[in-house]
Formats: sequence, C-alpha cells, structure tokens
Amino acid sequence: KVLILDFGSQYTQLIARRVRELNIYCEIHPFNKIPTDLDSFKSVILSGSPNSVRGEDVLHPDLSEIRGKKPLLAVCYGAQYLAHFSGGEVAPSNTREYGRANLSFVKDNEAFFSGISKGSQVWMSHSDTIKQLPTNGVLLASTHDVENAAYKIEGEQTYAIQFHPEVYHSTDGKQLLENFLVTIANVEQDWTPQSFVEETVDALKAQLGNDKVVLGLSGGVDSSVAAILLHKAIGKNLYCIFVNNGLLRKNEFESVLKQYEGMGLNVKGVDASARFLDALEDVSDPELKRKAIGRVFIEVFDDEAHLIEDVKWLAQGTIYPDVIESVSATGGPSATIKSHHNVGGLPDFMKLKIVEPLKALFKDEVRRVGASMGMDKDILGRHPFPGPGLAIRILGSLNRENVRILQEVDAIFIDNLKAWDLYDKVWQAGAILLPVNSVGVMGDERTYEKCVALRAVESTDGMTADWVNLPYEFLQKTSNEIINKVKGVNRVVYDISSKPPATIEWE
Ligand code: XMP
Repeated sequence: KVLILDFGSQYTQLIARRVRELNIYCEIHPFNKIPTDLDSFKSVILSGSPNSVRGEDVLHPDLSEIRGKKPLLAVCYGAQYLAHFSGGEVAPSNTREYGRANLSFVKDNEAFFSGISKGSQVWMSHSDTIKQLPTNGVLLASTHDVENAAYKIEGEQTYAIQFHPEVYHSTDGKQLLENFLVTIANVEQDWTPQSFVEETVDALKAQLGNDKVVLGLSGGVDSSVAAILLHKAIGKNLYCIFVNNGLLRKNEFESVLKQYEGMGLNVKGVDASARFLDALEDVSDPELKRKAIGRVFIEVFDDEAHLIEDVKWLAQGTIYPDVIESVSATGGPSATIKSHHNVGGLPDFMKLKIVEPLKALFKDEVRRVGASMGMDKDILGRHPFPGPGLAIRILGSLNRENVRILQEVDAIFIDNLKAWDLYDKVWQAGAILLPVNSVGVMGDERTYEKCVALRAVESTDGMTADWVNLPYEFLQKTSNEIINKVKGVNRVVYDISSKPPATIEWE
C-alpha cells in the first residue's frame, strides 16, 4: 500500500482517488502523524499545501525513515520542501502560475516520464517557484514558465513535480502516477472491488464471530452496500431496521423494503410516519426540523434495537471522506471532535460497539464494490437523498397535505427523468414546495395555488454543483403534467443556481 502525507492541499483526496484507480490501496495521513506501521507502506507521496516553505508556518514532516529508504514522490509543496531544505532554493514567482501549462522539455529515457512527451498538458497551482534544484537534483521536465517543473534526486528513488498529476486537467497525470508507483516503486495493483469484498468479509467474520449486529438502512447506497457486506459475513445475525419517517419519496418505503427483502436481508420496516410528522408540527426553522427528525429517529431506533436480544454491535455506512483527519491551514492536524453531548443520557444503542465496513472507501468505490457483489443498479445508481427527506424541501412549516403534494410532484419529476433517460446523467434531483401562492386561471376560474421549484444538479461530491441544462421539451412536459395532475399546484419554476453561491437544497 501507499502512504499519502497530507499538507492540507485541497487536492489530497484526489491523489488518493487516482492512486486507487490504479487498483493500488493507499491511505491519507497528516504530515506530522506518520503511521507507526510505516514498514507496511511500500511508497510515499507528499501532497501539496496552501502553506509556503519560506513562511513562518512551514510544515516540517519527519522524513528520516522515508527519504532514501522508500520510493518517494513529492508533489507541489512537497517538491518545494525537498528543494528548499536540501540545498536548493525556493522563491516567490514573478508570474502567476495557476491553471494549465504544457511541458516544453521532457528528459529522454526516464521511466518516470515514460509515455509522456513534450507538449503534455499539466495543471499548476502555486505561488512559489523552485529557483534551484536540491543537491544531486536532476532536471526531468520544464514548462514555458516553470523551468524546474520536475526533478529526481540522483542515487535515491526520490521524484518531485511542481504540477498536480492528480487533477484531470493534467492529461497524463494518471500515467505519471502509474510510472512512479508501478514501474519505479514496484507497488502491486491488487486493490480491486473483488479483493476488497473477500478481505472485508473475512475480516468481519473474524471481528464479529457469532455476535448480533444492528444496522439502520436508509435506502441509500452506503447503508445498502454495508448491509450486503455484513450479510455475506454473518448472515442472519445482521438485523436491519428501515424506518419510514413519512418524509420519503412516494411509495419509496414499500418498494425499497421489498428490494431489501429480495436481496435476502433480514430487515424490519418500521412505519413511524405519524411520530415524525407529529414532532414536526409547527416547526419551520430548518435546523429545528433537522433536530426534531434526528431526535425521533434515535428514539425509534433505540426502541427497535432493544427488541433484538443480546445485540452487541451497531453497523454504520461511514465512508472514507468522513474519517480522513484534515490538516488545518495553520499546520496542526485538526482533530475531528464528535459531538457526544449528553454522555450520561445516550440511548442504549449508542453504547454498542461500532463496525464500519466501508470506512476505507470513496463513494465511487462503494458503488463499484456494490456492483461487484451483484447489487441492483436501481439501488447503486440512486440519487443522494437527504436524511430529513422532504421536510427540508417544504419551506416553512409542513403538514401531511403538503407532504402528499410534494410527493406527487417529486414522483412525476423523477419518473419523467427516468423515462427520458436523464436520471443517470443527473447527480441529484428533486422538487421543492415554496411557501408562496400565486394567481392562475383554470377554465374560467381564477386560482390561488402553490408554486413548486424543480432542481436538478450535476456534481461529484455535493461540495460544488451546477444546475443541469434539461431539455426545454422535458421541462415543458413535466410542468404540464404536474399542474394538470397535482391538485393545489398551479405554477412550476426551474432552479438555475449553482453551488456556490447557492446550495443544492433550499433549506
Ligand atoms: P447542500 O444543500 O448543503 O446539500 O448543498 C449538499 C448535499 O447534502 C444533502 N443534505 C443533507 N443530507 N442531512 C442529510 O443527510 C441533511 O440535513 C442534509 N442537508 C443537505 C443534500 O441533499 C445534498 O446532497
């Protein structure tokens, strides 16, 4: 496996994803928390950083057990760090060095640049520049503006690049990582969905033995894949609970429950709609809605978990981005503090031991693992859906009638996306019920009815998003169908805001 030492770059997770795409397992650790089992890592990559090697906030990794001892690739800040502290020179650059550039020189016959030639596009993002290579540095590549764009250290398996191979705009970035990791560092490409499933199932068997495990299914990809993995490992000892909070999509509870049963899961559907909707009565503040839903969920789940005799574990669908320890801009790895308020009064299920079979995976890997276990595309390709469900898509306070209206509207929108073959091209879609009534005419009558907004976005992780350019004819037909079929709605609008500055949800 490969160790990625993080210096706080916004691209660190991308490095990990590119490495994993090569079927190589890697882990991200803060630069100043080098894992104690360093021997188990075959190679090390140093990430970029928002910091400067010349400033007071220079981040000093302890490379004594790494440099010269393992194949080392230093990216951006890493490359500057090696230069600055090993006999070279780093200075502020005169020209802006952001965005695309092309290699204007590539040294011949270097395994590191095998298959990559002059002209290849690379992505730069730095304000310092390497003026002079470190001791024993050998220049490997340049761009028009950056002479020392890549170098190696003679006598070591140490390579450094100023540009970012991990971003897609560096056209040959993946090739470069492959050259380094496979050809130079000799790391094995054995990290595949199949190998992950085999190893994880074995590990779960060993960890859980004959113990009972409880897991909350949400209908989403993560909890579903976690359930199937656990089911493979411990079969009927996995007790799944799927709660209907009354805020799911139309018919979702019944259809997803059926799907889960079809997959052989031991799943109990709990219809707690009334409890949730009662708790939400007259609540209009979005955060209070989320709190109320969270609280009722915990009560319902706790009641259900108590019915399982002798349960020892709580399984969660946590994924890798949730557990990576982040490096803050000031250099200290910022501890992720879990808000375990109210320790004395924790519900009983929270005192269970935690098992998180997906915590090493990125989202796209979760899907690949699911697919390799033969899971249905219907579940794996499902759009993300917020835990508080339709409650945060009904602006202001909600009631049962509003939920019904929005479910009808949402179902028409989503069904049409599927019918037009647009569902898989959209990252997330849904309808929002607005707290405004507007005037309309139906026949000879004036109406004064509700307005709904449709939202469809493309994104990779939900952090940034853009609205989808849906065909006019699609919008026309969908709008018509909604207004004709859903009583109480006389106007449909389409949200054309990007995130940032807007967000995906309206609350
Ligand atoms: P925003 O609106 O912040 O949404 O751009 C980003 C992603 O997060 C989802 N989302 C939530 N998911 N509980 C959830 O489980 C929440 O309270 C919540 N709020 C937003 C949203 O659907 C989108 O995918």
